[in-house]
Amino acid sequence: MTTQILDGKIISKEVREELKKDIIELKSSGIIPGLGVLLVGDDPASRSYVTAKEKACEDVGIYSSEIRLPSNASRDEILDVVHQFNGNEKIHGILVQLPLPDGTMEQEVIDTLSPEKDVDGFHPINIGRMALGLSAFLSCTPHGILHMLKRSGLSTNGAHVVVVGRSHIVGRPLATMLSQKNELGNATVTMCHTGTKNLARFTREADIVIAAIGRANTITAEMVSDGVVIIDVGVNRVEDATAKRGYRLVGDVDFEAIKPKAKAISPVPGGVGPMTITMLLYNTVESAKNHLSSGRSLE
Ligand code: GUN
Repeated sequence: MTTQILDGKIISKEVREELKKDIIELKSSGIIPGLGVLLVGDDPASRSYVTAKEKACEDVGIYSSEIRLPSNASRDEILDVVHQFNGNEKIHGILVQLPLPDGTMEQEVIDTLSPEKDVDGFHPINIGRMALGLSAFLSCTPHGILHMLKRSGLSTNGAHVVVVGRSHIVGRPLATMLSQKNELGNATVTMCHTGTKNLARFTREADIVIAAIGRANTITAEMVSDGVVIIDVGVNRVEDATAKRGYRLVGDVDFEAIKPKAKAISPVPGGVGPMTITMLLYNTVESAKNHLSSGRSLE
């Protein structure tokens, strides 16, 4: 069987070309889509994610404005930046890169975002609206995965999808989106997590396995059936003395061992990652369009 490699860079390029056209139109109506970025602390992985997101903005013509705070920034300093972005007419989307150095503040920071600028789709209003099937900003990683499947000709309609991981950012919203009665969903969904007994019993039954666990090589070849579709959301650093930086990035899936069995598989890096960034651009453009049409996005 030849395995289809789900190349997130190629699919992203397609979507980004479409976005560029929308941005040109917005600009001709006097609106430059703008993203406000808040990075707290100096975690190297967060720094590199933010740089990649800002570069992607620049490539498609979205203006971005970054505010960086030290890792010991106070609650008030962080919330002040969110308020500034909320009130700034030039900013249509806000990205607060997570995790924050003080994780206990995260929910309050998310709650403070204007839901109409919450292009990460993390605010309870957006999550609640999404769960009800109403218009909302959809979290970028789950939304990117659904686009990746659809644009690769892999239908979720009637498929048994096993989602491994129940994070608020990926697993939980993804399972909700997949179960909805629309063209990107309509799947039968099983959600597995750290409390699941005998994970392999479920993954072997799956038409599509989506691994969002955060631990290298968790899904092995024995755990899946022939012809499975694999989406690997994990980004894990493993030491590698031969690599320039002393580490390499791998997913949650044993890619080389599973590839010969799979109908399709997404690589790490170059799979889901570029799609996540692309959906951030997509949501920012949507927000700018909402601003143009009414100034109110979620009605
Ligand atoms: N940290 C890891 N993934 C994400 C994401 O999609 N958005 C934000 N804001 N932070 C993240």
